[in-house]
Amino acid sequence: MAQQKTDVMEKLVSLCKRRGFVFQSSEVYGGLNGCWDFGPLGVELLRNFKEAWWQAMTSREDVEGIDASILMHPRTWEASGHVEHFTDPMVDCRECKARFRADQIEDMTCPKHTNRPAARCQANFTEARQFNLMFKTFVGPVEDEGSVVYLRPETCQGIYVNFLNVQASARQKVPFGIAQVGKAFRNEINTKNFLYRVREFEQMEMQFFVKPGTDEEWFEYWRQERMKWYLDLGMTPEKVRFHHQVPEERAHYAKEAYDIYYEFPFGWSEIEGVHNRTDYDLSRHQQYSGKNLTYFDDQSQERYTPYVIETSVGVGRPLMAFLVDAYREEEVRGEKRTVLRFHPRLAPIKAAVFPLVNRDHMPEVAQRVVADLRLYLRVFYDDGGAVGRRYRRMDEVGTPYCVTVDSQTLQDETVTVRDRDSMEQVRVPISGLRGHIEERIRTWRRPE
Ligand code: GAP
Repeated sequence: MAQQKTDVMEKLVSLCKRRGFVFQSSEVYGGLNGCWDFGPLGVELLRNFKEAWWQAMTSREDVEGIDASILMHPRTWEASGHVEHFTDPMVDCRECKARFRADQIEDMTCPKHTNRPAARCQANFTEARQFNLMFKTFVGPVEDEGSVVYLRPETCQGIYVNFLNVQASARQKVPFGIAQVGKAFRNEINTKNFLYRVREFEQMEMQFFVKPGTDEEWFEYWRQERMKWYLDLGMTPEKVRFHHQVPEERAHYAKEAYDIYYEFPFGWSEIEGVHNRTDYDLSRHQQYSGKNLTYFDDQSQERYTPYVIETSVGVGRPLMAFLVDAYREEEVRGEKRTVLRFHPRLAPIKAAVFPLVNRDHMPEVAQRVVADLRLYLRVFYDDGGAVGRRYRRMDEVGTPYCVTVDSQTLQDETVTVRDRDSMEQVRVPISGLRGHIEERIRTWRRPE
């Protein structure tokens, strides 16, 4: 069973490379640990995924969006607690000089010796030291302590320091939220499991500012909303659950925290965190900047520092969860197929268009269908090989609908639309094809 599960990860990583979802960063140089590149299909999947999140957040009247810079004033990270707290305990092997996370020795292999468990180095370990995970660089021409800046390890600090700018410019009243999607960087000691723990990644974070005393209610609200989002996007309900963090697990800013866990082939692991950060962040930025970051509530005529409910998710982890969740190997009418059963909203290609054969004007008609659909949907034209093989190629990258132009099309301007999940076909007039596909994307339900 464990072997089968590892196989799924291996097959998925291989499919991701072969079909252009994810490549190792700077592969020609042997790769860079903890960094990945999204290929032509991967980048579409990524964009669809971020768009689904952005839409869920900013289509609400009480959430605004921003895009803050990656480099911030270095005092930001003193105020946030990252300079002091954002560390992992680390040990070095005196013999081979490899470096390990002291609390994850059991999980690790020695980076200097292929297949050697880290525990084999244990006799030679140094004392544990705290290692800060923030990447440092310098602004300006002088590389000294005074010019140090950090690559942000989380996006939310750009939201806190802009709290009053957004509130005033968008004329929002508490409670309201600010959403952001952007890159974050962590110099992880132990990168692992494909996109799961990496050094450069994107986060989608929303900070919801509320009146103190209403925070627990809002925390519960956002916790449920976030779980619903995964289920609405078709995630298998039995494979996703909450994990309630006990006080020892919580970050220094959190009064309460739930993680959303997914059951990956390597076990249940966190994909998202929902945190009650209290007034910690705004109070700290107020203290470190000397600027007043309190909010005046003109209805109740009170001035207070809002509490923050945070929903925080990387893009890569849940994306990988959706890939794992969608991956199936099936036997269909005596033939094997690999299929990614994504929600059509996530699918990189929404429809493929095929001429049944490369003659009798079928390619021209199919090209015309492609040109019309392409104005609205991401479509792919394929006239190579038997139609069954073309279906299989599209199944493997999760394309939900395959449109075929055949001899009947030439008589009555109808095409067949084949469904990825049920593999059933219906005939649809070309004039209504776009509406038909869009309606099916909108009303798609996970097959049981
Ligand atoms: N602002 C709060 C915060 O950043 P976190 O639990 O450290 O909280 C939130 O991170 C989410 O960011 C995680 O649930 C995960 O999805 C993603 N994430 C964090 N570190 C990551 C890493 N090294 N690689 C990939 N994703 C990561």
